[in-house]
Amino acid sequence: MSARVYAGARRLLRPVKALYERLAKPKRSLAEWTSYWDEQAAGVEDEREANGYAVGPDEYRERFLAPYLELLELEPQHAVLDVGCGTGLLLYEFEQRAGRVVGADASPAMLARYEGGAEVVVAPAHDLPFPAGSFDRISMINIAQYFPSTTYLEQVIRHLFGLLREDGILVVGAVLVKPPSRLSPYPWISRERLVRLAEGFGCYFSLLAPPAVYRDSRVHERCDLVVYRGAPGA
Ligand SMILES: C[S@@+](CC[C@H](N)C(=O)[O-])C[C@H]1O[C@@H](n2cnc3c(N)ncnc32)[C@H](O)[C@@H]1O
Repeated sequence: MSARVYAGARRLLRPVKALYERLAKPKRSLAEWTSYWDEQAAGVEDEREANGYAVGPDEYRERFLAPYLELLELEPQHAVLDVGCGTGLLLYEFEQRAGRVVGADASPAMLARYEGGAEVVVAPAHDLPFPAGSFDRISMINIAQYFPSTTYLEQVIRHLFGLLREDGILVVGAVLVKPPSRLSPYPWISRERLVRLAEGFGCYFSLLAPPAVYRDSRVHERCDLVVYRGAPGA
């Protein structure tokens, strides 16, 4: 295509692009999402519902919790970090299985509802106050859609990889990989981009279909990224 034709096509498409940008809901900033979760913590009584799970206790345990616990392979000597831990649904489980359990969340109100014995810290996922190589296991489940952008998600995953010890496992669960339309208000990342990011770590990783509880959604496709630090990549 010649430069003139290309410039003409761009000019013609300008109103379409302007309309798209007006219709597409802007992604929320970290501060806006944090207020959203503070309000959720104050206004929603049910523990699972406050964390975004509209399922009963048995269904939650069987279809959501069990698959992630299996991926994490927790042992009593492990130090484990749950990022975006909300009111601590996962922390209660980790406490029964690992030596050191830490939860981090940007929302003080969500964290304030947690009544267990884990260490907790109010901090954003991209800037967690721990030295490199602090944890044997790190989970970040069902939070990436509440990030301000895809670039932010990539920044967070790199940061978490840095906090992982040799032989550690990072589980980034229920990541949106395909929106129903480009007007989705949630940031998402293509499988290809997620693979490129994980390949950069130079170790074994897998992309999995998430637990069934997420597969019912006809809205977005999701996947789980599991990175095994220290295990050589293919
Ligand atoms: C849907 S809840 C999930 C809670 C928990 N991961 C679970 O599955 O039970 C999302 C949580 O992620 C937290 N969150 C969202 N963005 C965050 C960020 N950038 N840094 C830290 N926490 C964040 C929210 O405050 C909220 O508590």
